[in-house]
Amino acid sequence: MPETEEPLTLAPEEKNSQVNTNDNRIDHNQSHTNGITRGESATTPQTHRFDPSFTQSLINATGPKASPRMRKVMASLIRHVHDFARENEITVDEYMAGVEMINEAGRMSTDKRNEGQLLSGVIGLESLVDEITYKLATDATDAPTSSAILGPFWRANAPARKMGESIVHNITDGDDTFMHGKITDYLTGEPIEGAELDVWHTAPNGLYEQQDEDQVDFNLRGRFTTGKDGRYNFYCLRPTSYPIPYDGPAGKLLQLLDRHPMRPAHIHFIVKAPNYKPIITQLFDRRDKHITDDAVFAVKESLVVDFLPKEGDPKARFELPYDFRLATYEEAKKNSEEAEATFVDLTGLNLS
Ligand SMILES: [Fe+2]
Repeated sequence: MPETEEPLTLAPEEKNSQVNTNDNRIDHNQSHTNGITRGESATTPQTHRFDPSFTQSLINATGPKASPRMRKVMASLIRHVHDFARENEITVDEYMAGVEMINEAGRMSTDKRNEGQLLSGVIGLESLVDEITYKLATDATDAPTSSAILGPFWRANAPARKMGESIVHNITDGDDTFMHGKITDYLTGEPIEGAELDVWHTAPNGLYEQQDEDQVDFNLRGRFTTGKDGRYNFYCLRPTSYPIPYDGPAGKLLQLLDRHPMRPAHIHFIVKAPNYKPIITQLFDRRDKHITDDAVFAVKESLVVDFLPKEGDPKARFELPYDFRLATYEEAKKNSEEAEATFVDLTGLNLS
């Protein structure tokens, strides 16, 4: 917007005073107390010049059969979206551009591409929701492994592989890596038997297998299940940074915001075990130049790792030791008001 468009830069109080001085519109700061029960003064102070009862009338239209959660969440969403529109004086043209962006994201989405999730990632919503959902996770050394966003490229039912197997097929230009460690109970430190590690990452060309016709189905993916010792090990590649798909609405939004599309090199994991709260996470390569400016803001310090040179193994130049720590559902519920909701969400993703 040009700097000369002053109305968009005025504080709300200034706007009101300007409007009420220059025309004969109703002073809605007065009408705010005219008997209308808004019930939202804490989040929507009447500092604008638009219909003061509009937002509450929308909220009041919710019927008695709506669930309490839906009633609460949608009332909040309506308040915030309306406040957003009023605060920025969104025009019809701008509104229609937003609608078209969402429609285009829908048209582009397939079982191999999730443009809606990319869009929410670009504005940081997925990472924020991840933080809220997994607030039990912290950077403390004795805490469960921190979570990170699922991202749009996970595929269900990756091949179950034996310990020591490689997830790499028909790729000769990658940095072969031996990853190993154990999966333990974060409180007791005891190994977890029957824990499943679901892993996926891109090829050196920056593409996941479903984006790349030259890769075999389920390349660079696999599921490994621990024995009594809770240990796992397999061969993979040292990951590569890559741009999120840039040819749709998410890419367009990044361009409009003068932002780059790069994600720092990372490997994705889902770790789950019977009676334990699943963890969706990523490990990030410290050497990556985008480690501090991830396009979707998913990096957490506790998830930044160092790949070590590996000697004497003809199958790998690097190794990555890493232990995952899980919390039982019981323990998670003690620490997180959201644990039950988390369980429902994850079940919807067929993670349990
Ligand atoms: Fe990724």
